[in-house]
Amino acid sequence: MSLLDMRDISKVYQMGGEELYALKGVSLTIEEGEFVAIIGPSGSGKSTLMNLIGCLDVPTTGSYKLDGIDIADMSDDQQAVIRNEKIGFKVREAQMEKIPFMLVIGDRESEERTVTVRKRKGDNIGTMPFAEAVALVKKANEEKELD
Ligand SMILES: Nc1ncnc2c1ncn2[C@@H]1O[C@H](COP(=O)(O)OP(=O)(O)OP(=O)(O)O)[C@@H](O)[C@H]1O
Ligand SMILES: [Mg+2]
Repeated sequence: MSLLDMRDISKVYQMGGEELYALKGVSLTIEEGEFVAIIGPSGSGKSTLMNLIGCLDVPTTGSYKLDGIDIADMSDDQQAVIRNEKIGFKVREAQMEKIPFMLVIGDRESEERTVTVRKRKGDNIGTMPFAEAVALVKKANEEKELD
């Protein structure tokens, strides 16, 4: 069984009455321990594919199994657990620049419904209730946009 198994995946965006295929009939398997690079020109669908792999978006057609489990059968909450436990995203520095804070959500902490907030480069600011942390990050982002 493959760790990741995508079959005939398409992602279609509706653009002013036109159908735009960001991905068309993509099939991909990745085995445990395999190291894979996804490369292609701008607009070829790399980010779209990564968003699907990361369960941040759902395909228009096709199936996606992660660790043998069909993602389509999962609830939003189950998908959130997958994102938390199975998938790590390293965003590129240019994107990191826009993120003044990082939320670090650990198993124990999320059970207690609190999260740890850390400065992008620096020490933890502290552990706080989730809603408080979201408000803090939102405020910081708004201030950043005013710069
Ligand atoms: N939310 C969206 N709505 C409409 N079209 C979209 C959307 N997101 C992506 N697209 C289109 O889907 C196609 C694939 O885009 P995608 O961002 O996945 O490409 P990419 O390979 O990541 O490009 P880049 O190297 O520039 O990051 C492009 O034609 C893009 O314009
Ligand atoms: Mg991209």
